[in-house]
Amino acid sequence: MQGVSFLATVALLALASSFASAYDPSPLQDFCVAINDIKSAVFVNGKFCKDPTMVVANDFFFSGLSKPADTANKANKVGSNVTLVNVDILAGLNTLGISLARLDFEAYGLNPPHIHPRGTELLVVMEGTLLVGFVTSNPNKLFTKVLDKGDVFVFPIGLIHFQFNIGNTNAVAFSGLNSQNPGVITIANAVFGSKPPINPDVLIKAFQLDKGVVEYLEKEFMSN
Ligand SMILES: *[C@@H]1O[C@H](CO)[C@@H](O)[C@H](O)[C@H]1NC(C)=O
Repeated sequence: MQGVSFLATVALLALASSFASAYDPSPLQDFCVAINDIKSAVFVNGKFCKDPTMVVANDFFFSGLSKPADTANKANKVGSNVTLVNVDILAGLNTLGISLARLDFEAYGLNPPHIHPRGTELLVVMEGTLLVGFVTSNPNKLFTKVLDKGDVFVFPIGLIHFQFNIGNTNAVAFSGLNSQNPGVITIANAVFGSKPPINPDVLIKAFQLDKGVVEYLEKEFMSN
């Protein structure tokens, strides 16, 4: 009996650790530079690792966050633009559970309500004044704050949050996220702009909107 429950415990622990590795795991080696060409590569998680003897300093390097991203083009309706340096951009991030973003805002630009399904976000304002906030899971309490240069705010994993430039100058912020691939779900785009579209009756009832408004929103977000 004892033997059986020991085995069951071992099996449960094995199962638990396989669940745990569904999150970005603690690294089991110094690094695992991601590689797309799988010849002569080792598989660790998510991506294959580049042969460590072939790894070079540039595998850990990215240049380009000195320049603001474009916020003024016609396709940009919110006046903000996020440049994310994740594992797809910086292969050396593979298995390390971290990434970085630069956020640019024109005057009154908005990073609209969104979720990072796999990452907590730690933001620091470099220029300008941002109104930021996040909303908890039910019951939906808003935590909000006005941030100036040098101020830091944390957005817990999986919660809806936003950043709004309330100044009449450009704003710049940087964010660290504790995932090599935090992901992003922009609420309005996901709900009104999915492909194929969600049945309008679902959205009419969910958001308590008139049919015409839902049709307008679907048209607006589908064309993005
Ligand atoms: C964001 O900035 C990049 C780089 O400037 C630009 O190529 C891209 O079109 C911009 N995206 C939007 C939605 O403005």
